[in-house]
This record gives sequence, structure tokens and C-alpha cells, in this order.
Amino acid sequence: MTHFASLCSSFVYVQFAQGAVLDSILSAFRSICGEDGVLLGEAVREQHGKDESLHRCCPPDVVVFPHCVEEVSALAKVCHNHQLPIIPFGTGTGLEGGVSTKSECAACLCDSSCLEPGVTRKALNAYLRDTGLWFPVDPGADASLCGMAATSASGTNAVRYGTMRENVINLELVLADGTIIHTAGKGRRPRKTSAGYNLTNLFVGSEGTLGIITKTTLRLYGLPEAMVSAVCSFPSVQDAVDSTVQTLQAGVPIARIEFLDDVMIEACNRFSSLSYPVTPTLFLEFHGSEQSLKEQVSTTADITQSNGGADFQWAQHAETRNRLWKARHDAWYAALALRPGCKAYATDVCVPLSRLPQIIVETKEDLIENRLTGPIAGHVGDGNFHCLVVVDPNDPEELHRVHLFTDRLARRALAMDGTCTGEHGVGLGKRALLCEEMGSMAIQVMQGLKDTLDPNNLMNPGKILLPKAL
Ligand SMILES: Cc1cc2nc3c(=O)[nH]c(=O)nc-3n(C[C@H](O)[C@H](O)[C@H](O)COP(=O)(O)OP(=O)(O)OC[C@H]3O[C@@H](n4cnc5c(N)ncnc54)[C@H](O)[C@@H]3O)c2cc1C
Ligand SMILES: *[C@@H]1O[C@H](CO)[C@@H](O)[C@H](O)[C@H]1NC(C)=O
Repeated sequence: MTHFASLCSSFVYVQFAQGAVLDSILSAFRSICGEDGVLLGEAVREQHGKDESLHRCCPPDVVVFPHCVEEVSALAKVCHNHQLPIIPFGTGTGLEGGVSTKSECAACLCDSSCLEPGVTRKALNAYLRDTGLWFPVDPGADASLCGMAATSASGTNAVRYGTMRENVINLELVLADGTIIHTAGKGRRPRKTSAGYNLTNLFVGSEGTLGIITKTTLRLYGLPEAMVSAVCSFPSVQDAVDSTVQTLQAGVPIARIEFLDDVMIEACNRFSSLSYPVTPTLFLEFHGSEQSLKEQVSTTADITQSNGGADFQWAQHAETRNRLWKARHDAWYAALALRPGCKAYATDVCVPLSRLPQIIVETKEDLIENRLTGPIAGHVGDGNFHCLVVVDPNDPEELHRVHLFTDRLARRALAMDGTCTGEHGVGLGKRALLCEEMGSMAIQVMQGLKDTLDPNNLMNPGKILLPKAL
């Protein structure tokens, strides 16, 4: 194991101030990160007030770009003194409205500042290219590493390498009052520890509501000696998922195992000019030595064949493999292309593997009954799948149907001992579901932690936890 630390920087201040107070705040911001670091232009504010979700609200008033943790801390102190809310911003690829200003802020004056762009996962891997190391956590978008820590992101490699939760080992943070802390102690990166409460874990997935992440220390992996990918079609969802479970049970250290339903495969075929059979399909990838690959591949091939898997297509050349995985990572855009002009909302439930076939089958029935377009792509080895519901944002009736559908799907997952969100986070849209999932006592503990760390509710207010009843 080795590590990497990145400074994450762009973030957004939201402010509700006017006149002289505003001027003094702006000049304080400028004295901290320079004229260039404080932006008020409409385009930059628009860009920092939204993510890739359907949630829309007014943009922040100011965007600030700090250059180092000391500047972030100084900015946070100014905000603390003036009671100004702060919304951290990574790359804005989030899917749950995490960077939105509150929807009731019709008259809001927002200050947002981004000091330098946060390091993204692809930039890190480009930087590591010649070292023989890589960082495997790969959400579909090229997100910032600090944003990924903030949402506890994962992706197609999680089944083998884990999510951000397993791979962040230390965080540098700025708290609401400007205090700088290191969650595992400054500079520490032991392989294991029993040193007190796990503060790192508390901040992973906190979505900017507890503090601003300015640096993350990550676990890196040696690049595998060899890789093989494969595509396999199945007669039914059950057969595809049974193959997944049996492959994992057989101890095959599979690196990626992704499910695409017939609708998703058809969308990918069209979007990426492919010609896979239009049936439930698995995309697989194996990492290891040449010798171990042979074993992994032959065990998996036996298992898939015994479950009716057909049309095996193996790909060892980097070019063919990259084409396959690019198609998978483009699934979002392939889904959007099914209905030009529409937007997509990605559900994100995660259930115990044994319940996966049932929930996918029920979800597909629900989509058909309710006349919705929702191709399904899943990190099936983790029991996590996304139904990418493509919807006309200008059709309130359809939006309402989508909303009811996503609620039903989340409740179905909760009834099967799962969660409403495997990797996208709670943001604005899943706050009520989080209460159902956790129960009121656990929510009270979460609220207590929030009150302790951010007593004035300045850090990304209104996300994760519902506003307290007045
Ligand atoms: C096409 C597509 C595919 C995707 N696929 C996946 C996937 O497979 N798996 C997955 O997990 N996600 C996926 N996502 C969602 C998204 O990429 C992740 O949620 C990602 O972690 C967001 O990172 P970001 O830097 O864009 O954060 P942003 O969208 O900028 O912010 C997300 C949240 O984190 C907070 N935040 C950002 N930076 C910081 C910081 N420095 N300190 C504290 N809080 C911060 C924000 O306030 C907000 O609440 C996908 C998105 C798209 C558009
Ligand atoms: C603490 O949490 C971090 C982040 O989730 C994780 O990587 C680490 O392994 C945890 N440490 C222990 C001792 O559990």
C-alpha cells in the first residue's frame, strides 16, 4: 500500500447579505485569495450552482477559489463571523443536488469561491502512469478526489478494490469555524489502527455538511500484470445474477462485474456503435498474473455456461478492453440519447446480493406498468444498480410518475434490508428516505454530530438531514 495526498480546492460560499456588509465580506475574501480568487460573474456562478441531477435552484452569489488550506481556513472564519453558509464544490458531477443552494433561496446572494481545481481521479492516474501504481475507484464521471471522498463514491472496480470508504486513510479538513484538523493525525498512514473513534470514516460520505475536505490520503495499488475483459449474454436477469454470486462464492477475485439489462444494452449498442445481443448482459474484467488470469477466466466461464451464458467475447488487447469499458462508462449518455432533450435521474439502491434478481425483476415490471423509460446498469457484484430514468423535465405529470417510481424502488430496497443509496449520497432528494432507512434514534445521533461540529448550520445546510422542525 502506498498513498497520495491531493489538495482539493474549489468551493462555493452562499451568502445572504447586502450593501455595506456584502462589500466588507467581499473585500475580506479578496484579501485572502486575491482579486482573481473571488468571482461574481453570472456564468461562473451558474456553473457552481448545479450538478448533474435534476435539482435546480438559484446560483450562489460568489465563487471563491482558495489556493491552500490556510486560505480555506481564513475564508471559513470570515463566513463563521458573518454566519454565511458554505457549499463546497468539487467538479459538480454529483447526482443528488449536493451543491445546490436551497430551493427557497429565491432572493439569495451567494458567494462561491473556487481557488484551484481539485485533482480528479483521471488526473491522479495520469500522474501515476509511470510509477506502476494506480487508484482504482472510478465513478463514471471524472470527479474530484475530495468530492469522491465527500460522497463516498465508488464505481466498477469496487467489487475488488472497495469504495472511497475503504481507500481513504486520512483527511485534512477545515471545520465550520475555520479549525484545521487531520482525521487520523497529521501525516499518518498506518496500515491498521485501533486509535480511537474513526473520524476519517465520519467525514467520508458527509457531503460537505461537516467540514471542507482539503486533502485526502489514499490507498494506491500496483498495476496488475495482465488484464482480460469479457462480455456475456444471459437468457434472464436471474441467470446473470446467479453467475455473479457463484463467481464471487468460488473466490474468483474478479475486478469488475457489471450488469446491463436489455434496454441498457440496446441504448449502448446505438450510442457506442456496438452490436451485442439485446438480452441481460454482464461485462467482466479480471486482473492478475498471466497464470492467475487463466484460472480466473476458466472458473468464471464454467459458471456462466452452467447458467445459460452465451456469446462470450473475450478481449485482452487494451484497445478492445478500453472500447468495452468506455461503452459502460458512457451508459449515462447512451440512456439520455434514447430521448433527446430529456434529462436523466439515476436511482442508486443497493441490496444484499441474494435479493438482487427479485428487485431488478420487480423494478422492470414497475417501469413498464408506469410507462417509464429506465435502462438499468448495475455494479452487480456489490448488489448496487442504477435505473437511469429518462424524463422530460418540462412535463410535470411525467416527473410526478418518476418521483413515485423512485420512492417505490427505494422502499422496495429498504424492505429487502438494503439502502436507498449505494454510492451517490443523500443530497436533497433522499433525506426523507434516510430517516426511514436509519430510524429516528440513529437520525438523532447524526443530528447531534452535526450540531456539535457545525452548531450554526453553515456547512452545506439542508443536505442529508431534513431541516429541524421550528
Ligand atoms: C455520468 C456520471 C456517472 C457517474 N457514475 C458514478 C458511479 O459509478 N459511482 C459513483 O459513486 N458516482 C457516480 N457519479 C456521481 C459523481 O461523479 C460522484 O458523486 C462524485 O463523487 C462527485 O464528485 P464531484 O467532485 O463532482 O463533487 P460535487 O458534485 O462537486 O459535490 C458532491 C458533494 O460533495 C460535496 N463536496 C465536494 N467537494 C468537497 C470538499 N472538498 N469537501 C467537502 N465536501 C465536498 C459537495 O458539497 C456536494 O455535497 C456519476 C456522475 C455522472 C455525471
Ligand atoms: C477508518 O475509516 C477509513 C475511511 O472509511 C478507513 O479507510 C479505515 O480503514 C478505517 N479504520 C479502521 C481502523 O477501521
